[in-house]
Amino acid sequence: MYWNWKTIIEPFKIKSVEPLGFTTRAEREKALQDGGYNMFNIPSDKVLIDLLTDSGTSAMSSEQWAGIMRGDEAYAGARSFYAFEKSVRELTGFREVIPVHQGRAAERILFSIIGGSDKTFLSNSHFDTTRANIEVTGAEALDLPAPGALEFEKYGDFKGDIDLRALETALDSKAGRIPLVLMTVTNNSLGGQPVSMQNLRACSKICRGFGVPFFLDCARFAENAWFIKKREKGYADRPVVDIAREMFSLAQGCMMSAKKDALVNMGGFLAMNDADLAKRCREALIVGEGFSTYGGLAGRDLEAIAIGLREVLDEEYLRYRIRSVEYFGDGLRKAGVPFVEPPGGHGIYVDARRMLPRIPPHEYPAQALVCELYLAGGIRAVEIGSLMFGRHRNGIFEPAPMELVRLAVPRRVYTQSHIDFVIEVFADVARRSNSIRGLKLIEASEHLSHFTARLAPSGTGPMMAS
Ligand code: F0G
Repeated sequence: MYWNWKTIIEPFKIKSVEPLGFTTRAEREKALQDGGYNMFNIPSDKVLIDLLTDSGTSAMSSEQWAGIMRGDEAYAGARSFYAFEKSVRELTGFREVIPVHQGRAAERILFSIIGGSDKTFLSNSHFDTTRANIEVTGAEALDLPAPGALEFEKYGDFKGDIDLRALETALDSKAGRIPLVLMTVTNNSLGGQPVSMQNLRACSKICRGFGVPFFLDCARFAENAWFIKKREKGYADRPVVDIAREMFSLAQGCMMSAKKDALVNMGGFLAMNDADLAKRCREALIVGEGFSTYGGLAGRDLEAIAIGLREVLDEEYLRYRIRSVEYFGDGLRKAGVPFVEPPGGHGIYVDARRMLPRIPPHEYPAQALVCELYLAGGIRAVEIGSLMFGRHRNGIFEPAPMELVRLAVPRRVYTQSHIDFVIEVFADVARRSNSIRGLKLIEASEHLSHFTARLAPSGTGPMMAS
């Protein structure tokens, strides 16, 4: 159906509801202190609006719940596996389909086979778990975002693109040491920005020229395909499913965290055409995850993924999905909140460096803002900045290139009034941003430290004025 009206509505009605976690300010202060100023340590019943992630937080459809009941729980050769394999093959065109329990399991399996200490992986941007799974093998993960990707206030249609010139230079200078080029669609670490088909095509061609396999990290492939339809010349009249298939046709394989655009709470896969590599991946899968027809998932999970991969390409859904994030951005822009423009596919990325210029990177301005949002309105967001990507090397602190607060929007979960509420809280926080204080790091692990880090207000006195 073509939608002629100005108001884009949620293309679903609600069958099942769950209560939100209302708390007092005193309860939130205590939760924050107890949790070491780390949002990963806050119990979810103490969160009102949870924008920590769009991963595994989708509301499933009645069709998916029906699929859950149909799930075949046979250890080997379950009917649900074949439904899953068919759905992944129809979408991606790849013959070898390997289920895993979530995206990082696919990363661990693939990089433990093709990584190693003399290797370098290239990407528009590696997500944090992707980087970690590369680095634990001793390999290097090099991000090559297109020029302009870090100019957050400037609009760009495809700020998720890879820098093609830098890609060619790296492939040339590190010849023989690059096992794979990985394009993250959409680019989660830099604003949920899409990659254009033109860039995918050019990247694919360059990789072919160097004989290096090209893979997609396709956690948010459908959102990327919708942006191509809306923004790239020649795609306006193409069904989004065809656009998605064209994206996959340019690659030799992909890995997916199904917790995003497959609209499920758990799952993922690796898919490729290289039968030898797939065989090695399956061997690693069986050792660490489970047999090759379930890969750490229940049969019912496979069934839900098979359905979700089709549902996510419904154009009414994608129109609503992308518009609702844009609407969020419209409200924040009006409230004077600086964020990565344009709004991403799965969330808004607030630029804490611009919003809190007085807090230096080593006092984690984005995390300070995350904490203030929680205190003010029970809103849970996530830092993508120096807490996530900063490094302490030989006693010297190296900050991340950005200090962002991601407000990730779970799929089919919150309504417009929830988002209006978040905008109202944000406007209030923005008005008194000068009173927000920085944080100091007390404890952190070596890899993925943001999950386990403990922090405390820097200096003395109360952390935040209210
Ligand atoms: N790749 C991308 C682009 C991701 O965004 C994620 C997860 C993964 C891989 C890993 O997948 O969580 O299923 O193991 N992103 C989540 C997020 C955690 O909040 O953005 P996973």
